[in-house]
Amino acid sequence: MNYSIALVPGDGIGPEVTSKAVDALELAGDKFGHIFNFVELEAGGCAIDSVGEPLPTSTLEAALQCDALLLGAVGGPKWETLPGHLRPERALLGLRAGLGVFANLRPAALLPQLRDACPLKDETLTASNNEGKPAFDLLIVRELTGGIYFGERGRDGDGKSPSSSAFDTERYSRAEIERVLRVAYDAAKARRGKLCLVDKANVLESSRFWREITMEMAACHKDIETSYMYVDNCSMQLVRAPGQFDVIVTSNIFGDILSDEASVLTGSIGMLASASIGLKVEGRKYPTGMYEPIHGSAPDIAGKNIANPLAAILSAAMMLRHSFSLEKEARAIEVAVNATLDSGLRTIDIASRSSTASAEKIVGTNEMAAAVMKALENIPA
Ligand code: IPM
Ligand code: MG
Repeated sequence: MNYSIALVPGDGIGPEVTSKAVDALELAGDKFGHIFNFVELEAGGCAIDSVGEPLPTSTLEAALQCDALLLGAVGGPKWETLPGHLRPERALLGLRAGLGVFANLRPAALLPQLRDACPLKDETLTASNNEGKPAFDLLIVRELTGGIYFGERGRDGDGKSPSSSAFDTERYSRAEIERVLRVAYDAAKARRGKLCLVDKANVLESSRFWREITMEMAACHKDIETSYMYVDNCSMQLVRAPGQFDVIVTSNIFGDILSDEASVLTGSIGMLASASIGLKVEGRKYPTGMYEPIHGSAPDIAGKNIANPLAAILSAAMMLRHSFSLEKEARAIEVAVNATLDSGLRTIDIASRSSTASAEKIVGTNEMAAAVMKALENIPA
């Protein structure tokens, strides 16, 4: 089969890690008989530099023509002083809204090979985890195109007088909540059958609405164990007993914050891939889908052959699974990443915290990616 993929490398380490994800896709394509055609597009700081805006219309239009989108990262100090609507981050929000990718899947699991890179103690990791092993495996389903990141915002006053103010609005419609809950329930069904709504229903009206709708949906999903947790408590529970969670579903802002917290528990934010999925609309072969590592553009290490390419490579695997239903191909990439970690290779961000760790070899972006490709090559099609 032929697939067209919009490629948005972006800024900082974006280009170097996405190029490794492209290598993985091409190799998987050769192996399993698929052709991936890449359409490279500009968005973020690089687009500001070349055309004066973070998300050129031509980029969004071209992205909508493709079957899926792979993104690196956007942003950097160079563009930080620009006004809000001209900042590179607008490109991300604009692509998410433009593609309608409302459900953001952020899996966070502790791989046994990275046990030493996780800052938690064994007893914390074994707490509330049925198998009694130092492990956790959770999925954050973050609502991605609504809430306070997209709500009405503004300022009143001159900015200097004491009564000057600024505001952002958290507003969710029933339809927005229902559709992301549906994705989360489907995910829970395919996983361990547990779903936890994270909100701040003791204070926020919008959270109470989320809870109301989740309760209705829970009644129709008797096979799933639905629970409810306040976000402040959740942020504590993640570092107290992460093994208790299976699927966490939450709003845009809470999901943004909690997923960074969860990423550290996996050893490094450099390991976390994400999938953002939308609906299948008229005229498209596949639902819209956008895949990106959750780490940022890390401008301080860009171009130094230090960045961990695994989150980008794993994002490519998520694309194969979620956009194209190529499960075998996605698994092959994941198995190759796993084998590479088994062999002891580590980028600096996932190096062991204990100096006694044996058999670890610190490598750069290129060597890590080359090892993944070699492992992928050796996996039978
Ligand atoms: C993320 C990022 C973005 C977000 C920023 C860069 C706009 O933090 O993907 O989590 O908040 O969604
Ligand atoms: Mg974030």
